[in-house]
Amino acid sequence: MHVARLSLTDYRNYERAELELGPGATVLVGRNGQGKTNLVESIGYLATLGSHRVSGDQALIRAGADAAIVRALLAHGDRELLVELQLNRQGANRAQLNRSPVKTRELPRYAHSVLFAPEDLAIVRGEPGVRRRMLDELLVQRAPRLGGVMADYERVLKQRNTLLKSARARGLAAEKLTTLDIWDERLIALGSELIDQRLALIAELGDPVAAAYRSIVDADHRPELRAVLSIDGGDADGDVTEFETAPSSPLQPATTAERFAAALGALRGRELERGVTLAGPHRDDVLLLLNGLPAKGYASHGESWSFALALRLASAELLRRDSSTGDPVLVLDDVFAELDRLRRERLAGAIAGFEQVLVTAAVLEDVPAPLVARIVHIESGRIVEATQANDRDVESGDDDETSERESGQADG
Ligand SMILES: Nc1ncnc2c1ncn2[C@@H]1O[C@H](COP(=O)(O)OP(=O)(O)O)[C@@H](O)[C@H]1O
Ligand SMILES: [Mg+2]
Repeated sequence: MHVARLSLTDYRNYERAELELGPGATVLVGRNGQGKTNLVESIGYLATLGSHRVSGDQALIRAGADAAIVRALLAHGDRELLVELQLNRQGANRAQLNRSPVKTRELPRYAHSVLFAPEDLAIVRGEPGVRRRMLDELLVQRAPRLGGVMADYERVLKQRNTLLKSARARGLAAEKLTTLDIWDERLIALGSELIDQRLALIAELGDPVAAAYRSIVDADHRPELRAVLSIDGGDADGDVTEFETAPSSPLQPATTAERFAAALGALRGRELERGVTLAGPHRDDVLLLLNGLPAKGYASHGESWSFALALRLASAELLRRDSSTGDPVLVLDDVFAELDRLRRERLAGAIAGFEQVLVTAAVLEDVPAPLVARIVHIESGRIVEATQANDRDVESGDDDETSERESGQADG
């Protein structure tokens, strides 16, 4: 798919903007703070119903305005769809498809995109929450229904934590808490589905991640993804939650729901002490390994970047593979400035076959020449100029200031 036209009203620093886009690569260029990220963020929002920069929607609505509107004409082969999202300062957001109201949650069915951003380094080096979010965003794009399951899980989790806290405050003994059992049932049902979905996704990402990593780096560092589950005693968030895990025989391994129930049983005393739910998908992680060692803590800056890029490329590959809408829109927000020349060129090669690629950069020279086909200039929330790149001098590339802090051996 590709975005053929994007209109923004009162979105971030755009009062009104309209941009025609085509298949192939487009570079949005402008000094820092002009609105490049804001623009591509709006496309990402249609695909994931969230921003990669903030958790709430308030910051997306232009200061002083009551609502922001993101409208995109999407081309799926020779079919065109008009999707529209209104983010309201007060009250629920609204969505339309071809000018008829639809549930907001339906939008990711029609808009698919994969965003690469400087923040992606945190997928490898950051906290487990960053990795959970990466997986969940991909799950929602592949099966929008799961967005509802995630929201329900969050709600049940919150209620359960509230109950644990009030029980703690009132000094209630664990066995007196019959209401907790009801919440446990809901938590286990919703949570087990999310855990199983993540496990399946992690397994499916393995091969595409390895292939993508090889396309970025000229060596086989054996990238691996391994699930860390809190219901099995995994300790992603650094709290000690050791407990006796559910017994399972190799003939009849315990199901996810059985293990989840056993974990909650074993942890109940500690949960009441702490007033928080200690096992479930909200405390899981996925361990990223290179050559058998955790990338977090062991991998160089460059290797970490390669892993992050490989995860995004693999996500794009999965979406392309199983989607009725064709390729996702690839958005590369300011990433080339983060990469050395080799990785820039390799990345440009790896994404060349996607239907639409949107790149943002402060400096055009950071962007590999094959991607500079069409240039859009952005200045303080306005699209000032769109040009074809034929008059641009391709410079010989002065990479000194962006060369990476790592030794060459990392890349073999
Ligand atoms: N809700 C908002 N209302 C008005 N301006 C905003 C809003 N959110 C962000 N901005 C402005 O947008 C600018 C940042 O835009 P951004 O797209 O991040 O820049 P860049 O071109 O560097 O990617 C800042 O000047 C910021 O103040
Ligand atoms: Mg930016």
